[in-house]
Amino acid sequence: MTVTVRTLKDSVDHEVELKGWMYNRRGSGKLLFLQVRDGTGIVQVVVNKKDVPEPVFETAKRIGIESSIIVRGRVTKDDRSALGVELQCSDLSVIQEVHDYPIQITEDVPNIDKLLDKRHLWIRSRVPNAILRVRSEVVQAIRDFYYQRGYVLFDAPMFTPASCEGSSTLFEVPYFDATAYLSQSGQLYGEAGALAFGKVVVFGPTFRAEKSKTRRHLTEFWMVEPEVAFLELDGVMDLAEQQIQYVVGRALERCAEELKVLERDTAILQQVSKPFPRISHAEAQVVLAKLKAEFAASGNEELQKLSNDILKSGPDADLGAADETVIGMHFKQCVMIHRYPRHVKAFYMKGDPADPTKALCVDVIAPEGVGEIVGGSQREDSLDELLKQIEHHKVPMESVEWFVDLRRYGSVPHGGFGMGVERCVQWITGCQHVREAIPFPRTIYRLNP
Ligand code: 4AD
Ligand code: MG
Repeated sequence: MTVTVRTLKDSVDHEVELKGWMYNRRGSGKLLFLQVRDGTGIVQVVVNKKDVPEPVFETAKRIGIESSIIVRGRVTKDDRSALGVELQCSDLSVIQEVHDYPIQITEDVPNIDKLLDKRHLWIRSRVPNAILRVRSEVVQAIRDFYYQRGYVLFDAPMFTPASCEGSSTLFEVPYFDATAYLSQSGQLYGEAGALAFGKVVVFGPTFRAEKSKTRRHLTEFWMVEPEVAFLELDGVMDLAEQQIQYVVGRALERCAEELKVLERDTAILQQVSKPFPRISHAEAQVVLAKLKAEFAASGNEELQKLSNDILKSGPDADLGAADETVIGMHFKQCVMIHRYPRHVKAFYMKGDPADPTKALCVDVIAPEGVGEIVGGSQREDSLDELLKQIEHHKVPMESVEWFVDLRRYGSVPHGGFGMGVERCVQWITGCQHVREAIPFPRTIYRLNP
């Protein structure tokens, strides 16, 4: 019977056949312990010299890491291992023998750049493997969340004529005799979809020519973008909260083993089920000013350094990375910050009727230094106002003429948000850098492999 490591505990006391790769080896003399992985997990295979033919023992002793193999043997209980079982080898055959695997298994942490050069192989190792399994669950949870709630999946194009999120991070692509831009966000198309279907969700890759070297920025990342007719800012916040709670809840429920491999302390993740504090940008400034003063007077060198970076760009500006980190430290859970100054946000956001210098927008800040994971807003639904904003932001009219039609024919209040999948996975898994949350990361310095 051919089995997988994941289901091996259902086969205790049975003879099984396992196909996989040699992950590691300990022991010598008469007893070898092979760690064998098959993509679903890693199991210890015990090769006892007295139980196998001589050539099998010699093979088990000789073959190198990542040799592809077929192992036969009996499954036995082993309470000391995380898996609860091990395999007593009776036979082993080799599909391909390897001796020069370029990654040391113990090298999960050091020199991440060297490992990223070998990303096509590194994904076989325990830690990246666990992170990417969590990603898979997160993506499935997102799809399930919207499908169960009756959203129509609405794919936006990747080649676009215009910028959605500002021209400074656009990737230009020659497009026959014209220039196209890789999509920064599917939102404008999502808005067309919302007026056609009521509730849609755009889900696909997006691109930003980010020159930043932070641990939060990729040049290619996946974004999920719900867009809903008749949804106003409070509804956008409710939806973002529910979606994040659902996705994190699913990962906690179904990826417990992966999170254990990652040694993730899930205490803060568990807080996700509580309502997220909702504060305005102005209220956030007050909290930050207080923390800035406290940190400066703390006598703690690290906090004092952080204090210098808080509110660096002044009171009427966007929040910086340090501001987001500190907000996360303070609230120890996801925080919604709404009504940023309008001038720091995109052209399509609606102004707050109570104070037109503010946008009806929301960012969700994740704790533990991850920062913004969601950006969303109620959209400007007035034709005249939108035309003013397009002019003010110098968006080329010919590229958004079609979008303006949405305000000419049956315009209604509507809104939505975008969540970066990798930032969400970065937070759930606790990985240091967002580049570990995608199989083949693209950053300012990396286009390979
Ligand atoms: O805040 P952003 O720029 O919002 C939009 O693009 C809106 N059009 C979305 C919408 O309302 N439909 O990006 C949304 C999210 C961020 O909160 C972040 O999670 C992620 O996308 N993101 C990035 N992730 C990784 N690398 C980058 N360079 C990212 N830029 C944004
Ligand atoms: Mg944003």
